[in-house]
Amino acid sequence: MTTRKTPTPELTLDPADWDSFRRLAHQMVDDMVEHLRTLHDQPAWQPMSGDVRHHLREPLPREGQGAEATYREFLEYVLPYSNGNRHPRFFGWVQGNGTPLGMMADMLAAGMNPHMAGFDQAPALVESQVLAWLTRLVGFPDSASGLLVLGGTMANVLGLAVARHARAGFDVREHGLQREGPRLVVYASTETHGWATKSVELLGLGRRSLRLIPVDAAFRMDLGALRQAIRADRREGLHPLCVIGTAGTVNTGATDDLPGLAALCQEEGLWFHIDGAFGALAAMSDALRPVVQGLEQADSLAFDLHKWMYQPFDVACVLVRDAAVHRAAFASSASYLATLERGVISGGLPFADRGIDLTRGFRALKVWMALKAHGVGLLAGLIEQNVEQARYLAERVSAHPELEFLAPVPLNIVCFRFKREGRDGDALNRVNQELLLRLQESGLAVPSSTVLGGRFALRCCFVNHRTRFEDIDALVEAVVRTGRRIVEEG
Ligand SMILES: Cc1ncc(COP(=O)(O)O)c(C=O)c1O
Repeated sequence: MTTRKTPTPELTLDPADWDSFRRLAHQMVDDMVEHLRTLHDQPAWQPMSGDVRHHLREPLPREGQGAEATYREFLEYVLPYSNGNRHPRFFGWVQGNGTPLGMMADMLAAGMNPHMAGFDQAPALVESQVLAWLTRLVGFPDSASGLLVLGGTMANVLGLAVARHARAGFDVREHGLQREGPRLVVYASTETHGWATKSVELLGLGRRSLRLIPVDAAFRMDLGALRQAIRADRREGLHPLCVIGTAGTVNTGATDDLPGLAALCQEEGLWFHIDGAFGALAAMSDALRPVVQGLEQADSLAFDLHKWMYQPFDVACVLVRDAAVHRAAFASSASYLATLERGVISGGLPFADRGIDLTRGFRALKVWMALKAHGVGLLAGLIEQNVEQARYLAERVSAHPELEFLAPVPLNIVCFRFKREGRDGDALNRVNQELLLRLQESGLAVPSSTVLGGRFALRCCFVNHRTRFEDIDALVEAVVRTGRRIVEEG
């Protein structure tokens, strides 16, 4: 007879006392709802004290202290010190804000915790439904295929990986790039987000294979220069593979001439990938759809839902027009994953066959709940409101003698700076950099920065459903007040 050495009681991570766990869980929900309700009264960002830094570096806990004590530490040392992106006056980078419903959806998704490679389960149908809705929203054909992934970077990498597979002219999956043959070349503009560089590195194409084409005064890719670059590469015996267009560039919100790029790709036999990280969702609005016209002509399209669909991190989408090509780029077979006719795996593992991840969380749930609970109408209205807010800031900048624009405002990003007669070049750059840091450190607002034509810009991006027009007034007043003070201080 075998004897079992079973600890008593047997070990588990479920609570020993469900009632007290329930009380704690309710408290957590109440605290977070209250935190979100009162965001406006909190600083947009606050630096961490030495005490916080000290507290968050400690030896590996060998013995647990229990959930309640750990939660109290979260409240004291973690919750007050985020980078601030949920706040109404956070305008930095392109960071989404999350929603109370999204927070609860993430809790439900984690509670349910399904394995999202596929399987015969309702969560897989939810993701398929979300993908079908998103396909519609951006004007892709119903036959397209897609996948929800971590973020815009990952969605773009996958799009480029499909392009590489589809247009390399040989079996990249079999041979890799370790073979003799013409260099594969990818074209993007100088305004393309940094994911493109990381991707060509990761996909083995190398940075030397990424041509960064110049932009015009509106920061849109110069199509003439693109055509010339493709021709020059062909003359050199290289293999042009793919053009990356952008709907909503990270610096200024510019959108390339997407129909023009689509036509050129068609003519030249190149894959057309669009990075629509935030811009693509402008297509949700009837009024803004013309700004991103041509999205629907891409071979692959990447966009975030944690940016301009306001969902909590992290969730983004890649769509590929030709579902068979998408699958061919990633599908794999392993005996332990083989589909059977009945049982749990009878749904197959369609999502695992459309990307790199096998195990994925149920990030589709928050998108499904958002679309059903809020509807496209409200989400599109918020996107329009954000664009109106950018225009309002632009008006306030142009009306103010001490402020100036550094770029056009085609969508939801405003790049501007404080100016002072007799100061320019590095001196003015230094004033604006100091101004930015003081604004952030004051907790009043968090713009970010960029450099345009050598000029340091305060950069405000509107992807925030909490921002009010009065927040923009407060920002303008603070910029002018702080700029004047810095100049006076010399
Ligand atoms: C235009 C653009 N592309 C790609 C990305 C990367 O997206 P993510 O941060 O979700 O990886 C961003 C991020 O701001 C972006 O603005």
